[in-house]
Amino acid sequence: MSYISERPVERITLPVLQRWSQEGRRIVMTTAYDAVTARIADPIVDVILVGDSVGNVCLGLDNTLPVSMAMMNHHLDAVARTKPRALLVADMPFLSFHLGVEETIRNAGGFLQRGADAVKLEGGAKRVQMIRALVDCEIPVMGHLGLTPQSVNIMGGFKVQGRKADDALCLLDDAQRLQEAGCFALVLEGIPAELAARATESLSIPTIGIGAGASCSGQVLVFHDVLGLTEGHRPKFVRAYSTGFQLLQDALAHWAADVRNGAFPASEESYGLPEGLNDAITNWTPFNSN
Ligand code: KIV
Repeated sequence: MSYISERPVERITLPVLQRWSQEGRRIVMTTAYDAVTARIADPIVDVILVGDSVGNVCLGLDNTLPVSMAMMNHHLDAVARTKPRALLVADMPFLSFHLGVEETIRNAGGFLQRGADAVKLEGGAKRVQMIRALVDCEIPVMGHLGLTPQSVNIMGGFKVQGRKADDALCLLDDAQRLQEAGCFALVLEGIPAELAARATESLSIPTIGIGAGASCSGQVLVFHDVLGLTEGHRPKFVRAYSTGFQLLQDALAHWAADVRNGAFPASEESYGLPEGLNDAITNWTPFNSN
């Protein structure tokens, strides 16, 4: 059975996403970091996120902290060139929205000038001033609460958040604050399902969960996780729908074996010589041979 329907023509703008969410349609979001992943994802999902997870997923980094604006711009450009129909959200990397309103607006506005429809940034009450400033400049903002990977040092690792009463209540307050500040949606990551459900019912904007249970208004997973392209530890909340890493490695190994045993390329994969040229090249003698 194929889950791929014909590529819908409608561009998923912010008002379209808001309408769908109000109609109770669950939002599907995944990441893309280049033109290939964007083209695979675009006919399927509603939102494409050029996530700062590019750092650990594609660039071999241990966490997202070293990801810079230059890296994000490079990957956003590759995705934006495919002109996706999905809403295109660009992730604000660490330190790109902390150093002052002007720099934050310049960074986020730059993302929109490169083709993003919206930006995402991590954090709660402390980020309200920046979020308001961005929204005032017509820059749509998606918030991100819970296990925010850029806070790895404060959290002491990638740990489920909101398991203590004051943390849980703080998250519910933060969700309200981000909504009031003008966020159009919130990512809720790595929190108990019941807490995500409470946040979702308390908000009028959609929540997009990752490791936050089934009651969110939508779900996001990293592209490479859904397709089983990532090696090593797989978080509990990931369901891999393919064994992509193994499938791709098997295919590459098959090609390598065919090269080594002479089965590749076949005549269908080779170019023929135009008629009459065969004699010419057979009779040709190497320049230096006597
Ligand atoms: O960077 C990212 O991929 C993310 C998602 C996991 C929400 O922030």
